[in-house]
Amino acid sequence: MKVINLKSELIPILKKERSAGKKIGLVPTMGALHGGHLSLVKASSIEADFTVCSIFVNPTQFNNQEDLLKYPNTFDEDIRKLKMAGCDIVYAPPHEDLYENESKRITEFSFGEFEQILEGKYRPAHFAGVALVVSKLFNIVTPDLTCFGQKDLQQYYLIRQLIKDLSYNIEIRCVPTVREEDGLAMSSRNLRIPHELRPLAATFYQCLITGKEMLKNGESISSAKRKVKEIFSESAELKLDYFEMIDTGNFKIIDQIKNENETSLCIAGYLNNIRLIDNVNYN
Ligand code: PAJ
Repeated sequence: MKVINLKSELIPILKKERSAGKKIGLVPTMGALHGGHLSLVKASSIEADFTVCSIFVNPTQFNNQEDLLKYPNTFDEDIRKLKMAGCDIVYAPPHEDLYENESKRITEFSFGEFEQILEGKYRPAHFAGVALVVSKLFNIVTPDLTCFGQKDLQQYYLIRQLIKDLSYNIEIRCVPTVREEDGLAMSSRNLRIPHELRPLAATFYQCLITGKEMLKNGESISSAKRKVKEIFSESAELKLDYFEMIDTGNFKIIDQIKNENETSLCIAGYLNNIRLIDNVNYN
């Protein structure tokens, strides 16, 4: 496995692999890798012949400076894990390699109503930054396949749609969320959770399961929302941003299930100053 910092070095290597007929997979990440990221790398290396994993903490997608500054960095450990997971090349660019034109940039993504709900609403400009960096990575790597995690369901939907809207010739896979034993979705930000608050972090997943059970028992989404608010209000360390039911076919908030196989529950909020998000499928 090679670690490459510059796109000028990466592009000729990929050109060679592509002309040898290899199918190229791309797994974009921001590092501080855990089992969730590694399952994306494994999924890519099963389907593709050559897997590139990018590690880049993308400043344009952070609407909170503290979150950006405190973003964990475990680079040496990441490299060790990626070798084991079947990655072929790590692309870890310095800021200028992706944003050399930043002061003159006029391109700006916007996604209308999609940005008014869930993460779009609570993290203004977040998805514009995600789409910008992912487009740059798509253009540099020109992968045949890319893998994204279900953990960030709205981000997966955005990239799936971006691929269609901009006619990228890329297949996308949604890889199931990898969880800790108590259900907490693995996340780089979990490294920032103080030991004594760690058990409370599982509340997010527990609320999703409680909500799902209530719906399965015929209760309404508004009863489930009330219950989740009540659970969050019991701990001073927890703050709820949203708990919503989503039609994953069009990524709209719904209050009645239309298609059980295209319905998910999404939750986000804070454990002290650490923002956590999660979701489960209804089926
Ligand atoms: P990051 O948070 O590092 O996540 C990289 C990828 O790993 C995303 O596709 C995310 O959904 C997936 N992932 C995270 N936790 C997971 C888990 N527990 N189980 C399965 N997959 C998981 O998402 C980003 O980075 C950035 O926005 C990025 C796409 C790299 C653009 O900067």
